[in-house]
Amino acid sequence: MISSLPDFPWDSLLPAKERARAFTGATPDEGEGIVDLSVGTPVDPTPQVVTDALSAAADAPGYPQTWGTPDLREAVADWFARRRSAPGVDPDGVLPTIGSKELVAWLPTLLGLGPGDVVGFPRVAYPTYDVGARLAGATPTPADATTAFGPAAPRLLWLNTPSNPTGQVLGVEHLRKVVDWARERGVVVASDECYAELDWRTVEERAADGDGPDAVSTPSLLDPRVCGGDHTGLLVAYSLSKQSNLAGYRAAFLAGDPRLVAGLLEVRKHAGMIVPWPVQRAMLAALGDGGHVAEQKARYRARRGVLEPAVAAAGLRVDHSRAGLYLWASADEPSRVTVDRLAERGILVAPGDFYGTAGAQHVRIALTATDERIAAAAARLGR
Ligand SMILES: Cc1ncc(COP(=O)(O)O)c(C=O)c1O
Repeated sequence: MISSLPDFPWDSLLPAKERARAFTGATPDEGEGIVDLSVGTPVDPTPQVVTDALSAAADAPGYPQTWGTPDLREAVADWFARRRSAPGVDPDGVLPTIGSKELVAWLPTLLGLGPGDVVGFPRVAYPTYDVGARLAGATPTPADATTAFGPAAPRLLWLNTPSNPTGQVLGVEHLRKVVDWARERGVVVASDECYAELDWRTVEERAADGDGPDAVSTPSLLDPRVCGGDHTGLLVAYSLSKQSNLAGYRAAFLAGDPRLVAGLLEVRKHAGMIVPWPVQRAMLAALGDGGHVAEQKARYRARRGVLEPAVAAAGLRVDHSRAGLYLWASADEPSRVTVDRLAERGILVAPGDFYGTAGAQHVRIALTATDERIAAAAARLGR
């Protein structure tokens, strides 16, 4: 199994990291040392409403439910109705996961896929879709259009909207076409929507994209305009890591087709893939409190407002990047060259080739650094 997995790519960034660490600014604004924008790990505090819920549930002698408690599953269904324009999610079709990365890595296996089965995912993508296909012994197949599959339809098709790393948002119309195509062929569609609450488009842009007047986040696969209110064959993965600064809790969930979820639940019960009780309670608190999500979004919006113009002024073109936690930028040169040039200025970014060969002329610049570090990055980019 190990030999089927790709090399862990982050080690290749170590020389650039060393160079960035050694940076000494010419002005106080530029500051000292590395500004690490290579990973998307949240840096702001976990909200108190969540830490309080975690502490209050610290006494947990018994095993928690793999399925999650009914109130947690109902809270997820309510969240889809309130925040995702997707009423009608059946709490029976909700399943907490131990972060969404494990779900992405194991979904093909949990669905029973194996050798000969195709798993599709975007050409420029979070690497774990590929890893998940390999863990199952299935065939990973990057593709940006359903036509790319030809007659051999995948058994599972991953979408990622908003995308990591590109920040591309898929509109209602696009999603509907994918669902229609998948239904004709019995393809399971899984949409990873973990950046949905971090959508930077203006009201006008959303209207032009056909989002609908009440939309407050990125369109969901479970939106009735996408799937006609029928969730058969559809799954959405969502994570609280980004919206609630909970990456350390491993708090996420899956929602959609109750029949598919029942099968996944069965295997996960046998395998002990259980979200700890205090984390389940913390998730319930996080889902019930929109205030901290709005606060965190405002922080990222401000950082984006500082970084994006600085990146553009430094001669990089920012593509897509309409939502999510990254700027997807290109200087129309190999991404490693851009990585090295930015490392000279003490800024570490991720090369686009981490996300597929189609990303080889881009870099991914994360917004997940403190205000001070983002301001230092902007000053250094202005040199
Ligand atoms: C597209 C995408 N999916 C899933 C994850 C995993 O998030 P977590 O395991 O923290 O829920 C990430 C994390 O960066 C991501 O970018």
